[in-house]
Amino acid sequence: MPKLIVGNWKMNGLQAESLERVEKLAAGVQGDASGSFHMVVCPPATLIAPVAAKLKDSVIRWGGQDCHAEASGAYTGDIAAPMLKDMGCDFVILGHSERRQHHGETSAEVAAKAKAAHASGLTAIICVGELDAQRSAGEQESVVGRQLAESIPDTASTENTVIAYEPVWAIGTGKTASADDIKQMHAFIRGKVGTLQILYGGSVKAANASEILHTENVDGVLVGGASLKADEFLGIAVAS
Ligand code: PGA
Repeated sequence: MPKLIVGNWKMNGLQAESLERVEKLAAGVQGDASGSFHMVVCPPATLIAPVAAKLKDSVIRWGGQDCHAEASGAYTGDIAAPMLKDMGCDFVILGHSERRQHHGETSAEVAAKAKAAHASGLTAIICVGELDAQRSAGEQESVVGRQLAESIPDTASTENTVIAYEPVWAIGTGKTASADDIKQMHAFIRGKVGTLQILYGGSVKAANASEILHTENVDGVLVGGASLKADEFLGIAVAS
């Protein structure tokens, strides 16, 4: 199965630089005939429409970084799943550790959002991952197991749900989990989620992508910082 290569741009980018980046990505992906990966970019909400316009004839797909659990209503500043779908999104990242940390999102809220995403025909990329202190205490599997049990709604299927394992201590820090740690955790997650695709995220870059993408039970990667540079992100994709 082709690896899923997802770029999470977070709160980065104005139009000019971002559209230049997607043009480079579209050109780069067109030149790769191997079919070994599917590429997805998740821009900030303000850039979804212009990015979609640029990518409409490309094989690259796009998605949002969050959605509300309700389809519409008095929720100032929020974005609903049908709005993402309306912009041509196929994916939405949910329960990213930055949302859990800075917005206090609970796993129950993530499950409600995922349900809303499914109802709109979006694939939910549900993020899980332990804190540094939890790993030091040997609690990584119990933490991730609980997040999986509480964040995945009963509407989830292989067609509409992807899991992203992102150890919080590896996000944006330059620290990557070791191949053994990734292998062990992905095997644990596989036991819980069956055939759902499982991505790894946390300081993935072109230089370490090949080893990570060829680790057992790694079906793709969720990339933050390195997805902001077209060459680097393409380098990750071709490593698949
Ligand atoms: P990073 O972020 O690649 O910058 O570590 C990954 C993520 O937060 O999805």
